[in-house]
Amino acid sequence: MGLDFNDETFRGDYTFRNSPRAIARFPFPFPEDSYMYSVNMEPHLPGRPGSVFEHVFDVDEHYVAEMRDRALVLAEDPLRCQSLPHMTLAGWDLLELIMVAKARDYPQWFSLTQDGNRWHWVIRPLQIEQSFTFLDETTLPCGPMEYITRQTQGDFTLQDQRDDNLWIEAGMVTTQADWSLDFDIGMSFHEWHAPVPLAHEMRVFDRALKFLLNLQLGAPVRRFNWTMTVDPLLDTSPENYPKWGPSKTTMTADTIGHRQHLRVELQTLHRLPRSNAIVFPIRCYLIKFEELVTVPKWARRLHRVVRDIPDELATYKGFIRNKPLMLDYLSKYDDGAPTSPGIWAD
Ligand code: HEM
Repeated sequence: MGLDFNDETFRGDYTFRNSPRAIARFPFPFPEDSYMYSVNMEPHLPGRPGSVFEHVFDVDEHYVAEMRDRALVLAEDPLRCQSLPHMTLAGWDLLELIMVAKARDYPQWFSLTQDGNRWHWVIRPLQIEQSFTFLDETTLPCGPMEYITRQTQGDFTLQDQRDDNLWIEAGMVTTQADWSLDFDIGMSFHEWHAPVPLAHEMRVFDRALKFLLNLQLGAPVRRFNWTMTVDPLLDTSPENYPKWGPSKTTMTADTIGHRQHLRVELQTLHRLPRSNAIVFPIRCYLIKFEELVTVPKWARRLHRVVRDIPDELATYKGFIRNKPLMLDYLSKYDDGAPTSPGIWAD
């Protein structure tokens, strides 16, 4: 593994950690001291150099280890990757979107040579080299969506658009916050969002769907979602709940700083050119509480967010049981000083 990428695990001995650089560029999701659901979408434009918004797809120090973890999940449970037959074209659209963006943004790691439909793709950190014919499935080792998402950080779902609705009909989902592609596949926008508390009454999903049905090619948008995870486990799926659910009962005041993680999802939405489908990349970033509190503004703010969050949200996100322990830990870093607006560290 090159110097650019960590040799680390997201299971077993859990050697995952963030370098000082990764902490400094962590996508802290709270622009203010309180949190409630909203239609929090903004254009996915290139952001600050060095930040996770700099490029369309962020590649960071966890890349190689995350891809190894994905392969382990798929070996145990192939149903984490599914694509209904009519979604293959959307898979090619996604493959193109990712290959073109990564070869442009990270030429030191990725390269793409296109000669008509004859393409040659190289990923140096994963030692992958592949010649194939674009739009000809027989020239890849697996379907196009599976092929490209085995090599790309983050979960992905593909939504077909018809009957004024979006239908989740393909995906690669191995780093999810307690939801199941196998359960949701074939559902419509409001159906797969049914378990979320309060947001339906606030009409968040009505407005979000209306917006997404009009999403334009070349004008992607992004939003944050977040939750809490004990230990740096990427695969917190319902399928594996017996493996990670009980860990919530073993947290103590001594271990919380190291074991409790804020889990942030940078979600983007892109219209795809040939299929008219929408791809929804869900990129998961983890940070230990002890890493997060090295940034004073974030420590103060996270304390206030957790303290004031409605019980319905803390229950849905699965951390109501450990909320008192979290508050004891975080309150030591909150001196009551005002925090500056926005997500960036001072
Ligand atoms: C096509 C794109 C989208 C997909 C595939 C998607 C999928 C999901 C899924 C599977 C869940 C978990 C539901 C469960 O508990 O089983 C979820 C949660 C949620 N989604 Fe979406 N979503 C999409 C877009 C959006 C948009 C645009 C918004 C709002 C603007 C949104 C807001 C939410 C919220 C607030 C939650 C609850 C998250 C939490 O508290 O942890 N989603 N979404």
